[in-house]
Amino acid sequence: MSKVGIFGAGWVGLVTGACFAELGHEVVIRDVVPEKIEALQQGRVPFHERDVPALLERNSARLSYTLDVDDVADCEFLFICVDTPPTYSGDADLSRVWTVVDELPELTGRPVLVMKSTVPVGTGEKVRAGLDERGLEHVGYASNPEFLSEGRAVEDFMQPDRIVVGAFEAEDADSVAGLYAAIEAPVVHSDVNSAEMIKLAANAFLMTRISFINEIANVCEATGADVVKVAEGVGLDKRLGPHFLRAGIGYGGSCFPKDSLALKQLA
Ligand SMILES: NC(=O)c1ccc[n+]([C@@H]2O[C@H](COP(=O)([O-])OP(=O)(O)OC[C@H]3O[C@@H](n4cnc5c(N)ncnc54)[C@H](O)[C@@H]3O)[C@@H](O)[C@H]2O)c1
Repeated sequence: MSKVGIFGAGWVGLVTGACFAELGHEVVIRDVVPEKIEALQQGRVPFHERDVPALLERNSARLSYTLDVDDVADCEFLFICVDTPPTYSGDADLSRVWTVVDELPELTGRPVLVMKSTVPVGTGEKVRAGLDERGLEHVGYASNPEFLSEGRAVEDFMQPDRIVVGAFEAEDADSVAGLYAAIEAPVVHSDVNSAEMIKLAANAFLMTRISFINEIANVCEATGADVVKVAEGVGLDKRLGPHFLRAGIGYGGSCFPKDSLALKQLA
């Protein structure tokens, strides 16, 4: 079992930490918001997500919460799970990611910095160069994007459709994939750029399906067809599948709008 440090006690960081602890790893979660860390130390979860409180409680001996970056210094893996909101232009704001890189404590051995935050393609290459400039050539780097949905986050983490790991060095990819050894899911190994693109492309595809069925719903309304039946009939085609074909108010949430903007900026 490994020692895992996590930057960010938000949705992704806390779920990742809780699930890694459930898998038997020792986990240190670091955030910069004192109220969040105090709440977690007192056994309170700062947001509502099914199964997370039970996992945190059951694995409390393997979990700790801190504001002090030095507490992750002996971790073998350092997961970046900070927020990457859109800037005015639509580009992802990576300032919190760079703060984490700047704040890394003195690290020995070969820890691996793992990007779970959603970032534009090319970020890993820039972070790799940034690590090298800071004399951290001995720190590995991997992209391991997260696909969980809020509301079913623990289920999504523990029973994922796939685990994506992109790395510059095969040994880093293997060690990150090893953290998930107890989870049965296909592991997609790729280069770092492709791993970053898989996350953006998957979200864009899901959004396209939502927008597509809404356009079909408009035509249905004008022609007297029933979009629910249409979606059922279309979704039973194995080449297409039934998911994300429910007509409604369009896509939203904390990720789809910002991730589509970030992809547009790249394109
Ligand atoms: N929420 C989702 O459903 C979801 C799903 C997949 C991927 N993602 C991606 O994961 C990333 C995190 O998303 P989230 O929803 O967990 O965000 P969040 O806003 O809920 O949490 C981010 C946390 O990072 C903390 N933080 C900021 N700077 C820090 C620092 N220097 N050190 C330690 N902690 C720091 C913040 O205080 C906050 O608690 C984003 O890139 C997002 O796009 C989110």
